[in-house]
Amino acid sequence: SKKVQPETEDLFEIMRQATQYYRSQLKQSETAIDYLKKRGLSGEIAARFGIGYAPGGWQNLTSVFQDYNAKPLVQCGLVIESEEGKRYDRFRDRIMFPIQNQRGMVIGFGGRVLGQGEPKYLNSPETPLFEKGLELYGLPQARKAIRDAGRVLVVEGYMDVVALAQHGVEYAVATLGTATTPMHVQKLLRQSDSVMFCFDGDDAGRRAAWRALENSLGLIVDGKDLSFLFLQQGEDPDSYIRQAGKDGFEKLLQQEALPLSAFLLRELVAKVDMQTQEGRAKLLELARPLQGQIRAPVFGLMLRKRLAELAGISQAELEEVFQVKS
Ligand code: CTP
Ligand code: MN
Ligand code: MN
Ligand code: MN
Ligand code: MN
Repeated sequence: SKKVQPETEDLFEIMRQATQYYRSQLKQSETAIDYLKKRGLSGEIAARFGIGYAPGGWQNLTSVFQDYNAKPLVQCGLVIESEEGKRYDRFRDRIMFPIQNQRGMVIGFGGRVLGQGEPKYLNSPETPLFEKGLELYGLPQARKAIRDAGRVLVVEGYMDVVALAQHGVEYAVATLGTATTPMHVQKLLRQSDSVMFCFDGDDAGRRAAWRALENSLGLIVDGKDLSFLFLQQGEDPDSYIRQAGKDGFEKLLQQEALPLSAFLLRELVAKVDMQTQEGRAKLLELARPLQGQIRAPVFGLMLRKRLAELAGISQAELEEVFQVKS
């Protein structure tokens, strides 16, 4: 593991103090508490995820940190320094979601506006503590449930993770709006043999699902399974579980989640005309680079078998075509 530099320790300590401060401010803000209540969250769940509130105002953190001008406050992304050298708090009048590393230490924040407003979420920048594309929001809270359930659910957003937990689905983590990276997938596969993705039922969510598939192909191991649940247009895991509850959500997972192979074939088949020879040839063209990434022998074999069936050729013929061309 990485050797922790003394200054890194300082940054962790700053993040810890900021988290505490935002927590205490939440307790004093009726508006912020009302907002969380309206979104169906209990105080218990807010505490479990360390959710807080950054009040309005430009230099509130001066009340927390004796030296507001200290460099580490900028380094860890809590304070912004303007070109003229003026310092101000990055997070103002926002609900604060602490992002924790695997050990449960706060490395960044996501801040949500209470109502409308842009950007809806403001996130910590990359810092010595926080590397985007690596972290999974909610992992420390979810770890035990992931073991018990034998699966990990991957969603897009803070509110999805928290709302799912509120309703008893505690094995969810989020990629936080960034595309699922191979590092994410590796981390996920270390947590569980079964990784299920459930992104939003919108164009961004569907694109995110495909990116997750592309970034997973080379990491699939026989004996592990990845699957995808697609929600109706306009739904996300938060909105869905609020209306359907734990049982409804898990029933949907059980019944509707598509294995990665089925998702892959569905997407490719939709892009071609399966009625023509040209269309079926194009199916194989589209599939070739994707299957070429697969290193799991049994999984790769079965996918090629299915592709051959769909294309109306023998598996030996397909293997020959792929070998020549890849
Ligand atoms: N996101 C972000 N910055 C934005 C919008 C989104 O970082 N301006 C990230 C956040 O991590 C967010 C996730 O992308 O949680 C998914 O975005 P979206 O579906 O738009 O937000 P929700 O999580 O559904 O948020 P809410 O329910 O509070 O509207
Ligand atoms: Mn969305
Ligand atoms: Mn969105
Ligand atoms: Mn959403
Ligand atoms: Mn949402």
